[in-house]
Amino acid sequence: MRVRPASADPGTIEADVLAVPIYREDKEFPADLAALDATAGGVIRDAIDWGEFNIVEHYTALIPPGDLPVRRILLVNGVRRGRGAWRARRIAASATRRLIGRGAQSLALWLRDGEDADAFAAAVVGARQGIYRPWNTYGRVRDTAAMQRSVEELILPGGPAQDVLDAAELVAEGVEFGRTLANRASNDLFPEAMAEVARGFTADGCAVEVLGVEEMQALGMNALLGVGQGATHEPRLIAVRLPGWEKHPDRRLAIVGKGVCFDSGGISLKPPERMEEMKHDKSGAAAVLAVARTVARMAPETPLMAVAPMVENMPGGSAQRPGDVVKAMNGKTIEVTNTDAEGRLILADALTWAESQGATHLIDIATLTGAASVAFGEMISAYFAKPRAWGAAVQAAGDATGEWMWEMPLATEYRATLDSPHADIVNSGSREGSLIKSAVFINEFVTVPWVHMDIAGSAYLIADRAHNPRGALGTGVTTLARLALDFANGSGS
Ligand code: BES
Ligand code: ZN
Ligand code: MN
Repeated sequence: MRVRPASADPGTIEADVLAVPIYREDKEFPADLAALDATAGGVIRDAIDWGEFNIVEHYTALIPPGDLPVRRILLVNGVRRGRGAWRARRIAASATRRLIGRGAQSLALWLRDGEDADAFAAAVVGARQGIYRPWNTYGRVRDTAAMQRSVEELILPGGPAQDVLDAAELVAEGVEFGRTLANRASNDLFPEAMAEVARGFTADGCAVEVLGVEEMQALGMNALLGVGQGATHEPRLIAVRLPGWEKHPDRRLAIVGKGVCFDSGGISLKPPERMEEMKHDKSGAAAVLAVARTVARMAPETPLMAVAPMVENMPGGSAQRPGDVVKAMNGKTIEVTNTDAEGRLILADALTWAESQGATHLIDIATLTGAASVAFGEMISAYFAKPRAWGAAVQAAGDATGEWMWEMPLATEYRATLDSPHADIVNSGSREGSLIKSAVFINEFVTVPWVHMDIAGSAYLIADRAHNPRGALGTGVTTLARLALDFANGSGS
């Protein structure tokens, strides 16, 4: 998608469509909207009076242009609350998604007021998210050429300098890349297939290392290997280092993403309803690999490494059993009380390994618990931080790029509830507080500043929305890319 800034006056912009946000919080018809409506000859107020668009029921309405030099005006439902980046991303995504299959090549998106460069950059990401079609990966015979049309040019009235928008385009591409990886079917994207994807990043100057089963055995990564032992597709540990990693031994960020290509639950088998969604259990790995590729293209000197522990969690004759005890790479023994709490097992070894490679700061991102999804739903990611100042740096990166995150307490007081009679720790305790306890478990395997992001609810949509289609979203890519870029400049202590 081409993107360019334009004059701040939306009434003068020539494009196929002008998108205009209508904010829920505005009780009256505000002055800026009234001014545009006057230029347009009253068509906006007329559409609202007529009932074509009301803020309670409608996400978008496509109306005639009146006297404006466009072919249609698109009214988009927005919310003022929260940071500008989140709002801009959402509005942009709803606008471009509404125009899929329409004859609109160029879209002018008026964000209306008080927007900074971050908000415009988020709009670029959102616009690209909105035109995403999950079925493009495998194709659909029935789609006509007309159905495949979408916005090709985004014009931002009052937008920032072109280089800001070009950088945002690179990030938007990264989000799409991560999203497509997460959406890929488990028969198509298994651990070695993901490794093959990562090997392609050498073209962007990255050093790519892939550990196989024997190498991981030699390192004692039995927590990770235990999860993968029931599957025909063997586990892999993928590491992607940017050129900047070697040059900054004193300050290195490792981002570690849960890569469960399919989570059947293993012997602690999941119920069949919606089990197909568990192909998205690799969303964390998809995100960190997308971030490595994106940051390598934007700022290769960033001291960043992406680590993706990849497994399939399957039942079978050689699968791990409930009650099995494994010794993790850091020497701690784990009683596997539930084979469906597999994410924390693979993260434990992957985080230990990342530290052994010299990471001074860690972030893991994982579709870890149904509890996160129950508590936070699809819009918000939960995170835990040690120390909290490191969490604040991640939060700031989320705020700046339009990803909604909320901190949860790392209540190590709950550690005793994970005591095992047979080992140092169990992998799954009681249901009460299980979201927090999952973080308390992982905490046993990290010794440097660390943030854990649980994106189980926010990684993918279980139904179509006005702003995005059902499926993976690329959650975490903008936050982690921004954080990595800020980290190189000293953010996060
Ligand atoms: N991958 C799941 C978590 C999940 C659930 C992600 C729903 C996305 C949507 C994870 O491996 C899992 O099964 N977690 C268990 C943990 C429990 C056994 C302690 C859960 O949340 O039920
Ligand atoms: Zn899982
Ligand atoms: Mn599971």
